[in-house]
Amino acid sequence: MKRSFIREILESIDEQTISFAGGLPNEKLFPVEDLKNVTQKIFDNPKVLQYSVSNGIKPLREKIAQQYSNEGFPTKAENILITTGSQQAMYIIAKYFELKDITVEEPSYLGAMNIFKLNKLKMQGVKLEEDGIIIDAFEKSFEKTKLAYLIPDFQNPFSSTYSQDKREQIAKIVQKYNGILIEDSPYSELYFDKKNKSISKELPQNSFHLGSFSKTLAPSLRIGWIRASETLIRSIMIIKESIDLHSCGISQHILDEYLKDENRYKMHLQTIRNDYKTKMNFFAQTLEEVLPEFTFTKPKGGMFLYGKFNDLDSFELVQRCMKNRVVFVPGSEFYIDNRKTSEVRFNYSHTNIEDIKRGLELVKASL
Ligand SMILES: Cc1ncc(COP(=O)(O)O)c(C=O)c1O
Repeated sequence: MKRSFIREILESIDEQTISFAGGLPNEKLFPVEDLKNVTQKIFDNPKVLQYSVSNGIKPLREKIAQQYSNEGFPTKAENILITTGSQQAMYIIAKYFELKDITVEEPSYLGAMNIFKLNKLKMQGVKLEEDGIIIDAFEKSFEKTKLAYLIPDFQNPFSSTYSQDKREQIAKIVQKYNGILIEDSPYSELYFDKKNKSISKELPQNSFHLGSFSKTLAPSLRIGWIRASETLIRSIMIIKESIDLHSCGISQHILDEYLKDENRYKMHLQTIRNDYKTKMNFFAQTLEEVLPEFTFTKPKGGMFLYGKFNDLDSFELVQRCMKNRVVFVPGSEFYIDNRKTSEVRFNYSHTNIEDIKRGLELVKASL
């Protein structure tokens, strides 16, 4: 196993380097004042510093459950397990399915693939297209694995979004083979036009739906969650308890207090969506002007823009780019076999408009 190229880049680059590499939110939009105020408030109760329950504090689980129910996916607090980011959610689930075969998208999220390798799950890759995974190939693979890990909304790294038709077909396939879907959805609130329906909604007994506050509020809180049937939640509790007893109580109380004002969170989400949409459009327009040989499809939300050059090794290109003080993630990182590819993932949420232009010009100069 090797470490994540992205995390290594984040550790090695200096202030002068323009980074399109990490999946970082725009920190200028963190709701600092609101978080300061709610943090001050929660310390009125010293119990926030005490050990807590393993599945997460009930009022926060209730609020998350309510959000699902509001969207037509009936959910109770008992269906929710609070985790230390959705990264831990994946770890818990992977441990539960240790040594099993699993169907994954190609390309897929590096952090998940590393977890699967660590827990000795055998990954079978199925090609991803603009409107989601190729259905026939998915069924062929799922028939054998009966377990799949998918990111249907604004996929990382591919930035694709599943069509409603493919969502329905996948739900039918999972039901047909009585398998399990792990649906990872950290970006689902970052839509530019409309929210998509989760596939898990059609599979309440056969799914783990993963969410996170990392992309919508602040990743340093390290709070995510799993939505699953009560039976599945009970089965994985022992793993959660063994790892860390419970996720950070202070973060959970901060979030619970923050979410009491529903309107505040709604407005915050709208602010991020507007900002990311503007940046994505600017990024796309600048790519067309500066790097016309790069082909891509505009994403419908999220933080990434994925595409490819004509004929080059993007891993070699990023080495040259690093010397010129600009970085991105080469596509090879997102494939199980680390194959050579001309594909590239750009993050657009974290860089300011001036740096987007300068950074892409530096990529051009590195070709
Ligand atoms: C698809 C996907 N899943 C999970 C995560 C992990 O997020 P968290 O901060 O909630 O652990 C990320 C982070 O980039 C991601 O892109």
